[in-house]
Amino acid sequence: MSRIAVVPGSFDPVTLGHIDVIERAARIFDQVHVLVVHNPDKEALLPITARVSLLESSMRDAHLPANIVVASWTVGLLVDYCTDVGASVLVKGIRSQVDVAYETPMAIMNRSLAGVETVFLLPDPAHAHVSSSLVRQVAALGGDVGPYVPDAVARFLHSN
Ligand code: PNS
Repeated sequence: MSRIAVVPGSFDPVTLGHIDVIERAARIFDQVHVLVVHNPDKEALLPITARVSLLESSMRDAHLPANIVVASWTVGLLVDYCTDVGASVLVKGIRSQVDVAYETPMAIMNRSLAGVETVFLLPDPAHAHVSSSLVRQVAALGGDVGPYVPDAVARFLHSN
């Protein structure tokens, strides 16, 4: 049976930390769906279509394996998407205890709602301080986001 995992997130924008986690997930699972999800708790910078296209170009540039697809999900529960595509696992990257505290209730809720388990992966510690929200802040204040995001994202943020 093929093991399908979903890596969900806002990806607003995708960072090198995200790419690291996606690549690790693709080595573990047969198929990985990178899913851009609307997070109602956050005010978005980029429209979902831009986030999807930046993810696609970043993954192409990073030569990520071919068992990865990018999709978006804006209506309904995340676990509904998992059920639709036959995924039994969610993958989340964990940078610190703060992430564990944030992710744990959602992981238990998703298991309770639909039996979907969550696997936590540890990214390279080089990315431990990198988050989309800090990248947005650095970019908005005129800083160089090049070290933290794929080239396609840096080009996009610096030109907008
Ligand atoms: O990158 P983010 O913003 O930390 O990602 C959070 C996200 C989008 C994964 C989270 O907001 C989420 O799971 N949204 C789906 C809504 C949902 O299904 N909620 C009920 C179960 S927790």
